[in-house]
Amino acid sequence: MSANARHPAPLHPDVAAVLDGLDASDGPVESARVLPPEAYMSAAFYEFEMAAVYMRSWLCIGRAQQIPAPGDYMALTLADEPILVVRGSDGEIRALSAVCRHRGHTLKEECTGNTRTFTCPYHRWTYDLAGEFVGAPHMGQTASLAELKRTEALPQLKVELWYGFIFANFDPTAKPLAPTMTKLEPYMAGYDLDNMVTVEPEITTKALPWNWKMLLENYIEPYHTQFVHPIIHDFAPSTGVEFDPWRGPDDNVIVRYVPFLERDGSLTENGWAAPALFPIIEGLSEKQRNRVGFGMVPPNMNIIFMPDMLCYGLVFPQGPTSLKVGGGLFTAGGWCMPKSTVALPDFHARANRMMEGSRQLGEQDTTVNLAMQRSKYSRFAPRGRFSYLEETLAQFNRWLAVRYRAEARRRNYPLPSAAQAAE
Ligand SMILES: [Fe+2]
Repeated sequence: MSANARHPAPLHPDVAAVLDGLDASDGPVESARVLPPEAYMSAAFYEFEMAAVYMRSWLCIGRAQQIPAPGDYMALTLADEPILVVRGSDGEIRALSAVCRHRGHTLKEECTGNTRTFTCPYHRWTYDLAGEFVGAPHMGQTASLAELKRTEALPQLKVELWYGFIFANFDPTAKPLAPTMTKLEPYMAGYDLDNMVTVEPEITTKALPWNWKMLLENYIEPYHTQFVHPIIHDFAPSTGVEFDPWRGPDDNVIVRYVPFLERDGSLTENGWAAPALFPIIEGLSEKQRNRVGFGMVPPNMNIIFMPDMLCYGLVFPQGPTSLKVGGGLFTAGGWCMPKSTVALPDFHARANRMMEGSRQLGEQDTTVNLAMQRSKYSRFAPRGRFSYLEETLAQFNRWLAVRYRAEARRRNYPLPSAAQAAE
């Protein structure tokens, strides 16, 4: 039965449980509560969330510098969809479905390269760099070339470049990204990204067994750092944290910064410490040299502003309790650095020292994430209150609630009247 306004298709009880519990999650930090547990482990809710969030948000893919020449491409899986991100002969970057229009074999999967055309390995259907149909063997008797050219182009995602970061959006009606990112402008100042180089993030090959939101929640809240990361996080004490307020439903940035105990620190083999392992970036303000900024561009990007680099990470959900990650201190790479830094003769030795500090932080957070995932199955799973140090979690809940409610409306699910009236 199809959904309509009179007879809405019933939603799965897990989805209903999250939607019915949304009012309590959505609000300022004083009143907001943790999302219902179904949001972190239900397959039905994951399917709803992919439609509500990942099919309608700007998703970061990487840096335009990774595909500098015409024909350069990256094939990746984004929200369970095989996608080609390719620079065309016109220099434009496009994001195309990698699913062949014939019978659906993927054109490329999880690789990078340079090509003039994409040819399906199954029946040799071929597309150009803009996704236009070029030709296919033995098709002349059932369809004209002109007809196939008209109807069989690869579907395209919207693409927007922001400071050289490639973002794609499955929603053809999506509003531009940049106006929703203004909160990050003061953080971006002084990082001359056009003249910096990108060390590509390594994507984890093995999936991590917890919900994608949990990873970002752990990343963006400073309440835990002194307890979970004693000693190695003391240099960036959470008591000094400053938050940027939530700016409403069009705000696509959640960010906090933490002052260092000394200027010119960064991540070292001993955790957060001074001096930084890499040369301090010229042009950063005194304020920027005295702090680390932790930003998040939900749903799939984090961005860390450090005195010696700008470090970004990507999140790729694989299921309700499974995700892959790349960069962002989770794995090596995702580092934007001055050319002179990457050219240092001992660059790799320094990078390895940094990754040792990252490994220690990561192991401690992994222990926490695993325990948190297990507790979501408890009959006593809490919908807990937040500390003022979890301001960013209240903001993330608000960001999610906007999208969950919009999807609920598209599915004609009757939300509580207060929520209906508020938006
Ligand atoms: Fe942590």
